[in-house]
Amino acid sequence: MNILDIIENKKVGKELSDEEIEYFVQNYTNGKITDYQAAALIMAICINGMTQDEILALTMSMANSGDILDLSDISENIVDKHSTGGVGDKITLIVAPIVAALGIPVAKMSGRGLGITGGTADKLESIPGYNINISIDEFKQNIKDIGISLITQTMNLAPADKKIYALRDTISCTNSMPLIASSIMSKKIAAGAGSIVLDVTCGSGAFMNTKEDAKKLAKLMALIGKLAKRETVCVLTDMNEPLGYSVGNTVEVVEAIHALKGNMAEDVKDVVLNMCIQMMNLSGLYPNALDNKYKVMEVIENGKAFEKFRELVIRQGGDVSYIDNPEKFEKAPIIMPVLSEEDGYVEELDAGKVGKAGLELGIGRKQKEDPIDYRVGLIFNKKIGDEVEKGDVLAYIHANSPEKAMECVERIKDAYKIGDRKITKKNIIEII
Ligand code: URA
Repeated sequence: MNILDIIENKKVGKELSDEEIEYFVQNYTNGKITDYQAAALIMAICINGMTQDEILALTMSMANSGDILDLSDISENIVDKHSTGGVGDKITLIVAPIVAALGIPVAKMSGRGLGITGGTADKLESIPGYNINISIDEFKQNIKDIGISLITQTMNLAPADKKIYALRDTISCTNSMPLIASSIMSKKIAAGAGSIVLDVTCGSGAFMNTKEDAKKLAKLMALIGKLAKRETVCVLTDMNEPLGYSVGNTVEVVEAIHALKGNMAEDVKDVVLNMCIQMMNLSGLYPNALDNKYKVMEVIENGKAFEKFRELVIRQGGDVSYIDNPEKFEKAPIIMPVLSEEDGYVEELDAGKVGKAGLELGIGRKQKEDPIDYRVGLIFNKKIGDEVEKGDVLAYIHANSPEKAMECVERIKDAYKIGDRKITKKNIIEII
């Protein structure tokens, strides 16, 4: 077998065999297949798609590219969560400590930023000292000792996804259903949790722009979960507007800290509550579903969720003084307001346009090895449904140069649509 034949087969739209898929995954992971050959195959998959059988084979080969953890000796109730990606999506940083504070162990492997969507791994790394690359033994020990660990793909856990994910990010192959499903589910299967809750985003700031496509992706991942014997529930959420008030790395960590102390934007709260409730249901530890919402609010109000986040940060080497005093996070040198040019209501804040503006600011990567500037980002003063007057601050740009800030001002102005209708938005679309 050789990679050129495999690329050729996919290029002309043929179905790849399990052996061909396994050959590609193994040999790209071990470095025998080059980035440019892998890029050619990934692009062909992106264009020509994959059958269900191919997607299942790709997922299992990627999961098996490293260890598959068995966490059953730690707990039978471990639940994992994942989002298909979004702009301003800081949900993991809030949900994981809440659920862990409720006594449900959380073992989660997150990715870095992908395309216009941010990555939990990058956000965690913006906390000085936080180590997302701990060993598997430490990962397991953390779950045993404090009921939570948040890491990224490693050389032992889903290493194929680590490489394919970084490659896709820089060759415009992020919004492919087979590649998203195999990427997410290979990580979830490898991380060892018995049940999984997926936040499947849809809208201009998501990889799936329509509800129909998001549903298709959700059903595909639920099927993979079922075949891998992981109970999987999908929550379809809106991603036409960025989630919450911030987009970036440190700015989102700071928003998550406030959220864990009870100060949560309405859209964030909606998604957080729904994700927590589904995770509680799947854990088997909270049979009285009607109480779940109150239990979530309780661990926020009594400080246990925030304390769990502190514990996690300390445990993974982070400097907790930043969590206790978020003003310590280094700020970008330029902070520039975006002003409204008219009176009315915010009818649109286009997450896709915001995501592209953020990428230009340096929130994410254009090249695989690009460093990212954790300080840069966007803070929104006005969101959909808010009333504005001419001259009001719509948003603040946190940039590392005046040129980038000015360019971003124009992009953000273009993302807003001010009109005369007061719109109310639905954040949770469907549960599958
Ligand atoms: N999250 C992932 O882990 N992978 C994707 O491809 C998209 C979102």
